[in-house]
Amino acid sequence: MTSRTALGWPELASVPGELVMADELPDGLIVADETGQVIVFNAAAARLTGVRPDEALGKELFDILPLHDADGRDWWSLTDPYHGLQTRTRHPERPLFLADGTEMLVHVRYVREPRRRRDVRRLVVALHDASQRARLERSRADLVSTVAHELRSPLTSVKGFTATLLSKWHRFTDDQKRVMLETVNADADRVTRLITELLDVSRIESGRLEVHRQLVDVPERARKIMAGRVAAGEPEDRFRLTVAGGLPETWLDADKVDQILANLIENAVRHGAGTVTVVVEPAAGGDVVAVSVQDEGEGIAPDLASRVFRQFWRGKRRGGTGLGLYIVKGLVEAHGGTISVGRAPGGGAEFRFTMPAGTPLA
Ligand SMILES: Nc1ncnc2c1ncn2[C@@H]1O[C@H](COP(=O)(O)OP(=O)(O)O)[C@@H](O)[C@H]1O
Ligand SMILES: [Mg+2]
Repeated sequence: MTSRTALGWPELASVPGELVMADELPDGLIVADETGQVIVFNAAAARLTGVRPDEALGKELFDILPLHDADGRDWWSLTDPYHGLQTRTRHPERPLFLADGTEMLVHVRYVREPRRRRDVRRLVVALHDASQRARLERSRADLVSTVAHELRSPLTSVKGFTATLLSKWHRFTDDQKRVMLETVNADADRVTRLITELLDVSRIESGRLEVHRQLVDVPERARKIMAGRVAAGEPEDRFRLTVAGGLPETWLDADKVDQILANLIENAVRHGAGTVTVVVEPAAGGDVVAVSVQDEGEGIAPDLASRVFRQFWRGKRRGGTGLGLYIVKGLVEAHGGTISVGRAPGGGAEFRFTMPAGTPLA
């Protein structure tokens, strides 16, 4: 009996059973009949408006759901749904205000007589809470301002040193010039790194992260990354790799696994202290690989544990972007895995992630 509109709303062909389904919708759904009486008032509508369904059903829609625009005008008299333009079939989503001032995103659809008279048969109103969207927009604005700040400080230094060198070239010794150019070089690297990480963040947020699976030897990857740090000057005895038996064959994205391990190992070296131990072991009966990266530093206080994976969150030590762990979490989750932080046996931080072994195709 029910057909669906393009919006996915049930047509509600006067089947009472549909009311149950309407209650499962996350958005408020209110339907009025051709006389303007409320015939559907779902659970979300009750939650959003504070009106109980039994108070609403059978009443006038305009009384039960007074709506005002930003200028305080009564929206129902403004639009006059039952007498206005006969060609009108909907009002696109717009922010409107309930009697108590709460902002709602409101979307209205007119179900009309199919033939000549085209009278309104039903008015379908969808409501959703505007605060969530406002929060999202605020966090986007925060992100833009954080990024702007993050980019500005290295660029200020680049600009300052190059301007100084250009105007006073002959007043500096070669050593002084070298120091300035090294700073400029490091700041340029920082900007590049920040931009690369922001692109990763954007891929994670938009769900565009693609996992290209291949056979990956996780312990071998960890060994390579540690060797790289030793080659870059870290003492060899700072690193330890423990590999348990019975590891599954793992089909993962090799570059992403490298990125995860490199980030966690870098954090352990930079934010932690002592020996950095990587443990690779099977989990969940052998279909999952688990990797722990442990250090012997101060660790992470339990009340901060949920924060470390957020964008731009970083502790006392500056230098990083605070995006590393956010990206790591995104990469792990793109593989269907999970990551958590706890206390290592040696007292420092332990980051542990698990990933299903995967198959060549999935
Ligand atoms: N192994 C660790 N030991 C102690 N603190 C850590 C460790 N790893 C990460 N952290 C904390 O988490 C913060 C966020 O890490 P991350 O997202 O990689 O950003 P970044 O390394 O750029 O600061 C760090 O600034 C640091 O305060
Ligand atoms: Mg980091």
